[in-house]
Amino acid sequence: MKVTLQRGRLEDFATEAIVAFHFEGDEKLLRDEEAMDKASGGLISEVVQSGDFQGELYQASLIYTKGTILGKRILLMGLGKRGDFHLDKWRGAVSKAARILRDKGVKDFSLSPYLRGERKISLEDFSQGLVEGIYLGLYQFTEFKTEERENIKEVEQVHLVTPDGKKIFRIQKAVDVAEIISRAVYLARDLVSRPANRKTPSMLAQMAKDVAKNNALRWEVFNMDKMRELGMGALLAVASGSREPPKFIILEYKPPKKSLDTVVVIGKAITFDSGGLSLKPSENMDKMKHDMGGGAAAIGIIQAASQLKLPLHLVALIPATENLPSGSAYRPGDILTSLSGKTIEVISTDAEGRLILADALAYSQRIKPKAIIDLATLTGACIIALGNNVTGMMGNDEELKARVRRAADRTGEKVWELPLWEEYEEQIRSEVADIKNVGGRPAGTITGGVFLKKFVGEYPWVHLDIAGPVWADKDKPYVPKGATGVGVRLVVQLLREWNLSS
Ligand code: BES
Ligand code: ZN
Ligand code: ZN
Repeated sequence: MKVTLQRGRLEDFATEAIVAFHFEGDEKLLRDEEAMDKASGGLISEVVQSGDFQGELYQASLIYTKGTILGKRILLMGLGKRGDFHLDKWRGAVSKAARILRDKGVKDFSLSPYLRGERKISLEDFSQGLVEGIYLGLYQFTEFKTEERENIKEVEQVHLVTPDGKKIFRIQKAVDVAEIISRAVYLARDLVSRPANRKTPSMLAQMAKDVAKNNALRWEVFNMDKMRELGMGALLAVASGSREPPKFIILEYKPPKKSLDTVVVIGKAITFDSGGLSLKPSENMDKMKHDMGGGAAAIGIIQAASQLKLPLHLVALIPATENLPSGSAYRPGDILTSLSGKTIEVISTDAEGRLILADALAYSQRIKPKAIIDLATLTGACIIALGNNVTGMMGNDEELKARVRRAADRTGEKVWELPLWEEYEEQIRSEVADIKNVGGRPAGTITGGVFLKKFVGEYPWVHLDIAGPVWADKDKPYVPKGATGVGVRLVVQLLREWNLSS
């Protein structure tokens, strides 16, 4: 798909469809709506006045223009009440419109990149949000469909049309940003969507290498020998049940300017989580291919950081392995020596995420970062606590958490904080080792966070439990059912604002 920005008037544009927006209860039409209405001899006001279309959020009405203007159809899209309108609804409304048109087989459509005369949202946010809404909403994962590919409907061209030549430069910049971010989300979604037999740790390392090559990133992978030499006993234990060798993937983005802040992003990449000997129930086990959603996000984030040329030094650490049962698998009761030197008693082999993250967190301290952000599908309990749409946040640094909150607000990727109070530590105290990997059912997400905290040291750190939002069980406004790429937009936004608020 191509998105192009042109100077001109929508009503003069030859296109398969034009999208026009309308606030609920507004009798007066918006500026672009009005221009089209006039040019088409009142087609829009007829629909609005008839009462068929009130402009409720995501309400749609398709109008055939019958030659009155060059555009073949006008799709009217509701924005809901003016007072309730915000950026995320804009992304959603644009996305809904794009999907309605795509599903009708429309291959090109046109719209204004912002609502002229509306000041509640900046020109940049309007334009970026619109392009993100289109891309994110139109995502499809079709890689493994070999039959009837001709039935896959795809939009080929989107024209952004504005009469205001003076704004073109600012709009184009926002469009470029949105395309970079959307591509990064697509990358993460593709990786998560792919099944475990098509993304083994070795394959994931290879894919990360391709990303590195295309984006001038440094790429390094530790194989098992190196892990043994370093003493990554926790990661090696999780990997011991599988024939697929684990990989510790490192990607590094060095900005042109030196002596900028270093941020480490760690992503859990269990390419398949069967639970190991503490085997999961078979129902929905197929979903456990998404247990590398944190790692996928980390790859997307660093690709976007490089393409956006962000002024900071970023390192992505992605411990990657399968978690399988076998005669060589690690067992409940085993005691592991992690890279930090701390010993860990394994209560459940299904609490493997925190084990591989323990080694990655310990390793990250060698980089002496200004901040560590980890993303992980860590606990089913997080879904119980916060639902399917919300990321659980825990951390040891108020400023860093405030940055995450702000990025969440800007991107619409919802985040809610859970506490890491000392009293939870008792739940993961071990009688035989320094710590145990399970703290029982109460506060399951928090005890996961408290476990990780033990491996962080003094560095500012935030843990994002994305077990809920990594996968959408049903379509959301601009997130189609399936892999969501959660975390990419959130952390990229945080990094874009890194130097603003410090
Ligand atoms: N990958 C799972 C967590 C998960 C569950 C993510 C469902 C997404 C959806 C993780 O490795 C796990 O199995 N956690 C256990 C921890 C428990 C044994 C302390 C869990 O949540 O049950
Ligand atoms: Zn598990
Ligand atoms: Zn897991």
